[in-house]
Amino acid sequence: MGNNESMSKLIISGGLPLQGELRASGAKNAVLPILAATLLADAPMTIGNVPHLQDVTTTMELLGQMGVELVVDERMNIQVDPRTIHTFHAPYELVRTMRASILVLGPLLARFGQAEVSLPGGCAIGSRPVNLHIKGLEAMGATIKVENGYIRARAERLKGAHIALDLVTVTGTENLLMAATLARGTTIIENAAREPEVVDLADCLNAMGARISGAGTDTLVIEGIDRLGGANYQVLPDRIETATYLLAGAITGGRVKVKGTRPDTLEAVLLKMEEAGIRVNTGPDWIEVDMAGNRPKAVRIRTAPYPAFPTDMQAQFVALNAVAEGVGMITETVFENRFMHVQELHRMGAQIELEGNTAISIGIPRLTGAPVMATDLRASASLILAALVADGDTVVDRIYHIDRGYDCIEEKLAQLGARIRRTPG
Ligand code: UD1
Repeated sequence: MGNNESMSKLIISGGLPLQGELRASGAKNAVLPILAATLLADAPMTIGNVPHLQDVTTTMELLGQMGVELVVDERMNIQVDPRTIHTFHAPYELVRTMRASILVLGPLLARFGQAEVSLPGGCAIGSRPVNLHIKGLEAMGATIKVENGYIRARAERLKGAHIALDLVTVTGTENLLMAATLARGTTIIENAAREPEVVDLADCLNAMGARISGAGTDTLVIEGIDRLGGANYQVLPDRIETATYLLAGAITGGRVKVKGTRPDTLEAVLLKMEEAGIRVNTGPDWIEVDMAGNRPKAVRIRTAPYPAFPTDMQAQFVALNAVAEGVGMITETVFENRFMHVQELHRMGAQIELEGNTAISIGIPRLTGAPVMATDLRASASLILAALVADGDTVVDRIYHIDRGYDCIEEKLAQLGARIRRTPG
């Protein structure tokens, strides 16, 4: 990313109720593992419904550096030909900007018997280790050394194993799932993540010929096979993007419909919206919220792995509680330090106190615009939501965080009537 781009800011003038409809993009957290899974194929693949995101660009750069051929058409279908791969290395410079790069570890090891992937290191929301990825691959017979900041892994051929994960990890489950598809024998992963994006990855792998059952439950059974072929696969809609726009509608007292989405992946979130007094309507592939000009009611939330309330929606609900009627309580149990947005919301007048991993808020009717700084992806989303209900202008700095995970955010918000623009530098 160029310097100019990383310096750009969003300027939002709040106060207007958002009205209208928009279409959900493909899920960031599904497309990243699916792009990594193309490394397992011995034929070209086509991935459709790919969102236009910096994390997708980074993943393409990562695969491209390994020698994989990628072609993107004007409708964001990506054709991937993994057969030209010549390097099995994921460098620090890329992994540092996107932790999900760790997802190439399992596929490289399973298909090519070797991988060298930089350790991701810390990030804004906590230490986020990858010990369970490593432990699981070792159980499948890999030899792994961590030296000079790199994970160096080798294996003749991985073998099936019985793995019980100590805690629920999304990318950890995905790495082991991908590795197991080409292992000799059967792998059982217990305490597996049940996120819809894990199911989407399993569906894609099965379309490539894999034999995976149990996706969406906490036990995955993978019968290893000798080769995986190509497939044409459409990525699942993004539930976090969907819910963020629905909240943008609700927090401003407006009415917003998101089309091309999956209400069944958002049950816990929609229930909390209803508790907050938001009227929610759903159809097979759409969700509409209507706030009818009302103020939301503060809610209590505890984040946890799917199907419970997702940590990736925590920051946005902290913004909702900040302007809601009553006392709100939001407890983060997945990440140790994911409340960076709270001090930025204070700058906009929010009354929120942090006690350990709980944010306690006393809602106030209106926030005030202020210069604020995005610190991570979902924190940025919460600042934008707050800005939409603030009096005056809010200038959000470091928005490269938001471009990692939200496809065309200012176009989509402008389509709903928000006053938002991007400045260069
Ligand atoms: C994924 C999502 C991210 C989401 C998170 C939790 C992607 C690309 N990212 O991140 O958007 O916020 O799930 O839903 O899908 N842990 C360990 N050891 C490990 C692995 C994880 O201790 O080896 C811990 C983490 O520090 C964290 C918890 O497990 O406290 C859950 O993290 P995990 O599910 O692994 O998150 P990611 O897969 O990185």
